[in-house]
Amino acid sequence: MAQARNIEDLRFAARRRLPRIVYEYVDGGAEEGRTLRANREAFEAIRFAPRMLVDVSRRSQATRLLGRPFAAPFGIAPLGAAGLCWRDAEVALARAACAAGLPFALSTHSFVPLEEVARRGGAAPWFQLYLPRERDAAAALVRRALEAGCEALMLTVDVPVGGNREHDRRNGFGLPLRLGARTVLDGLAHPRWLAGVYLRSIVGRDLRDWTLRRDRADWSDFAWLRDAWPRKLLVKGVLTVEDAELAARHGADGIVVSNHGGRQLDGALASLEALPAIVAAVGERLSVLVDGGFRRGADIVKALALGADFVLLGRAVLYGVAASGEAGARQALEILKSEVDRVMALLGCNSVAELGPQYLRWKSGSDPKLQNQERSGSDPDFPSSVDEVVRDRVVHQLRV
Ligand code: GLV
Repeated sequence: MAQARNIEDLRFAARRRLPRIVYEYVDGGAEEGRTLRANREAFEAIRFAPRMLVDVSRRSQATRLLGRPFAAPFGIAPLGAAGLCWRDAEVALARAACAAGLPFALSTHSFVPLEEVARRGGAAPWFQLYLPRERDAAAALVRRALEAGCEALMLTVDVPVGGNREHDRRNGFGLPLRLGARTVLDGLAHPRWLAGVYLRSIVGRDLRDWTLRRDRADWSDFAWLRDAWPRKLLVKGVLTVEDAELAARHGADGIVVSNHGGRQLDGALASLEALPAIVAAVGERLSVLVDGGFRRGADIVKALALGADFVLLGRAVLYGVAASGEAGARQALEILKSEVDRVMALLGCNSVAELGPQYLRWKSGSDPKLQNQERSGSDPDFPSSVDEVVRDRVVHQLRV
């Protein structure tokens, strides 16, 4: 683990440490994995145009989001069932984020109660909400988040039903996790996980309410939540300008452009493809966060240059936790911080505020599968997945 030089190394370590049933739950996507791959491919299609002989000796990646300063332009996304990877994983994630000066969003599907994470994690987390169908239950959750001191609530909207994760069904994955006949040998082959995680924190846990259906929720539920929650409110799982506009109209403070890490609708567009048009439409009114496939500081810088205010990391940090708990989470965050710093220096850029499309070019002849818009007499330098308005803006900025 001490050898890990990048997120892929941590992923490798996680793979060795976790039984297959858990590793595939973490690492896998829905159905064919099209969106899972598209998230990564979208980064490959964009290249950097670095500037030289710029004094970058005083560069900083510190930024502000939702009125707060953060040490870097990224934080930790909510991770359902993170406790399958490490005992009290949510506390490890909270502590790592706090030590790094970054935000951490706790999932509704946490093995550790919110109040305990707030107490042991160093700071109150943001809280990710799956809205229970009954208003009383929803109101109780909102009250708990208020009392625990959460500054932001994040409503996840892309899980009206669970994604079709066939590897999980094949493996007999379910919550609570049961090691059945087919997986018990796998568990025995990973004794540290079996003794340290499974036997100590998974067996006997009652997770029945996690499977409640949410397919009735609509924007009226969001309007209710807006009234009930006086602090910052984010909508997570937005992929279209239309939904971004609705979020703004319903009083959201921000959105997370996200396809749930390719775990929900397979074939949904990549987060990075969806991003520029959404930024163009609501970027002045809402904080725009993005997640999905971020594995390198360079990926983070590309998203910021396309107009995102902030990036959320899911698997990239969870691999670290699975490899070695809080130390692994800290290592993941450190790796990404140092990569962002190096990329900014190599780009000739001193601050997050200066990052913009002037530092990007569309890889020529890049895979047309990535493009969600028709090419129209396109400038070969620019992502044709970026809608016309944005492209014009980007072209203009490049030429000034
Ligand atoms: C939880 O949100 C998951 O994607 O497994």
